Amino acid sequence: MPIIFHEEQRIFHLTNKYVSYIIRVMENDQLENLYYGKRIHDREDFANLHETCWRSQMSIVMPDPSNLSMQYARQEYPFYGTGDYRAPAATVLQKNGSRVVDFKLDSFSIRPGKPELPGLPATYIESIDEADTLEITLVDKLSGTELVLSYTIYEDYPVITRHARFLQVGDDPVVLERALSMSVEFLDMDYEMVQLSGAWGRERYVHTRKLDMGIQSIQGLAGTTGGAEQNPFAALKRKETTEQAGEVYGFSLVYSGNFLAQVEVSTFDMTRVTMGIHPENFAWKLEKGETFVTPEVVMVYSDKGMNGMSQVYHRLYRTRLAHGEWRDKERPILLNNWEGTYFDFTEEKLLAMARKAKEVGIELFVLDDGWFGTRNDDYRGLGDWFCNMEKLPSGINGLSEKMEEIGVKFGLWFELEMVNKDSDLYRAHPDWIIHVPGRYHCQARHQHVLDYSRPEVVDYIHDMVAKILSESKISYIKWDMNRYMTAPFSLALPADRQGEMMHRYTLGLYNLYSRLTSEFPHVLFESCASGGARFDPGLLYFAPQAWCSDDTDASERCKIQYGTTYVYPVSMIGAHVSAVPNHQLHRTTPLATRANVAMFGTFGYELDLEKMPEEEIQVVKEQIRFMKKYRRLIQIESDFYRLLSPFKGNETGWICVSPDKKTALAGFYQRLNKVNASWIRFKLAGLYEDVKYKLSYRVCDETRGYAAYGDELMSVGIPIDREDLTALGGDFASIVFEISAE
Ligand code: DGJ
Repeated sequence: MPIIFHEEQRIFHLTNKYVSYIIRVMENDQLENLYYGKRIHDREDFANLHETCWRSQMSIVMPDPSNLSMQYARQEYPFYGTGDYRAPAATVLQKNGSRVVDFKLDSFSIRPGKPELPGLPATYIESIDEADTLEITLVDKLSGTELVLSYTIYEDYPVITRHARFLQVGDDPVVLERALSMSVEFLDMDYEMVQLSGAWGRERYVHTRKLDMGIQSIQGLAGTTGGAEQNPFAALKRKETTEQAGEVYGFSLVYSGNFLAQVEVSTFDMTRVTMGIHPENFAWKLEKGETFVTPEVVMVYSDKGMNGMSQVYHRLYRTRLAHGEWRDKERPILLNNWEGTYFDFTEEKLLAMARKAKEVGIELFVLDDGWFGTRNDDYRGLGDWFCNMEKLPSGINGLSEKMEEIGVKFGLWFELEMVNKDSDLYRAHPDWIIHVPGRYHCQARHQHVLDYSRPEVVDYIHDMVAKILSESKISYIKWDMNRYMTAPFSLALPADRQGEMMHRYTLGLYNLYSRLTSEFPHVLFESCASGGARFDPGLLYFAPQAWCSDDTDASERCKIQYGTTYVYPVSMIGAHVSAVPNHQLHRTTPLATRANVAMFGTFGYELDLEKMPEEEIQVVKEQIRFMKKYRRLIQIESDFYRLLSPFKGNETGWICVSPDKKTALAGFYQRLNKVNASWIRFKLAGLYEDVKYKLSYRVCDETRGYAAYGDELMSVGIPIDREDLTALGGDFASIVFEISAE
């Protein structure tokens, strides 16, 4: 049993092969975090880990002999008002206007398994023995509010998941002004905070900063996780931690709305990490009998470096967060028409593109934006989810059948949360957009956000999409979302519940995803938001893949995909080969490199194959054949290691290694070519030291290779010939190495 309770000392120890997490019930019946980190032996009495001493101006919550103070205690789920002057995990406003609470232990349960979070995506188990759950119930008697802190420890992962649940038992309502999912404390501040930050076209770059006293945080307030700017993830690593070695703690929020990830360092060097729904514009009223459940935080501890942490997230998220028929399936190689045609297409053109796609081995044709309503540009049509028969006279039904006759599956783009004012939907329901009456309707990309906090809006959109999906042969949906939220307000909520609107929106979104994915289980969903502006674990639960960025330039993608793999599995990373000069940067990169980057993702093409010269078509055929050979390894069956960081140098490198370490595929990419330059040795990881591997790679039309032991490949590295890089195009050249045990 990985959760032990020491009755006499009132100490909980959550532990498995990898981690220990120790909670003590303090003398005043509140909870204290004693330790979180690498597994340690269990023993009866960890109480000595509660450091205390008399300090000037210390506020005492329990007099002699305990002289207990919250000021320097590592509160498990801290509140403000009893002497802890750091940021709290939750704030409960009561009828008399007070926010002071005193949550004390009431009861607890330790059970095998992992409960679901109602209405929210969360990691799951497939058999009861995969995890154990501790639920600690605390009660604030005066307000009549119950708080349940829930902890699940997985048996085979260094993973603890957490969330909190509030229930109002008392007669008077309370308002949760802040209800984060977790808080944890470390006794020192000798950490660096790692975050994935960026903007449109440069999402999820890796940023690292040294912790300092005070608050450092990242947040998302756009209603769409953190938009392209911040990802709901933060890690604390030691200064000496590298990709391959050292300690790191990862915190990842399974949520798609506003979030806060905050690290506060006290002047006594104590480091508090809190994470959850952002308190800004949040206030949740709990009437008697009502419950509020926070989203889940997935905490990963690794002493095997950043790659060690990432591999745990990859495995857990790929197999115990993503779910449905597509979870373990190789992803179809697709052609998306967006960068090939934008809005300018006819049925004839799409069918010609599909025929060419079939010829090169593509399996799925995706029709992007512009097929519905009067949508010939981005000023109109969103919300009118019926086919534009002028453009597509056979309708979606007829077109999907024609696609299948050609021999490719058919996929369709939607942007279900949005409406243009120039649409039948808006004309019929102007009150359905999110806005504050009497205030300006702020638009972005000429569109407005539908109020998904209203069930009737979600129902209406559901019925429209379900109709198309049931009438046509649709195998894939790209679910886009191209603007952030403004003026959060719902016409359907009373004044004292407006603070619930943004979270209710996210619950509405999950409701729609949940219904559509369960009613159409064979459909592969890909989430998207102006590229990668809503790339989060919450959506991964429903949509096993996500469009990673609108920036399709191969060299920029090295950075974006490298950063993305800090948390997200390669099988989630939507990546396409696009035309050159690249549409975002006007940069020209070799066709081989474009494929070599996209291959470490879901892989597809987003260009007009009909415009490609015949010799390139032959290359594309070979790329697709190669990807079909390796996609199971890359997407489903390997451990992914980052090897060379594009944020640190001119080169990027990574490798996918099969679990038996017999097969691997490594990608090496350079940015700019260099003249008369130094030597390059490309060091691999994840192989057996004592096994001899055959290495082969292509340089133009030639296949090269040699055999070497794993220790040589990892410690000495593969010598990269700069002449080869020049032959491969110079700037932005790349090589993919096929590696197999002899
Ligand atoms: C933004 C997406 O990221 C693109 O791939 C494309 O689908 C456009 N929207 C269509 O409007």
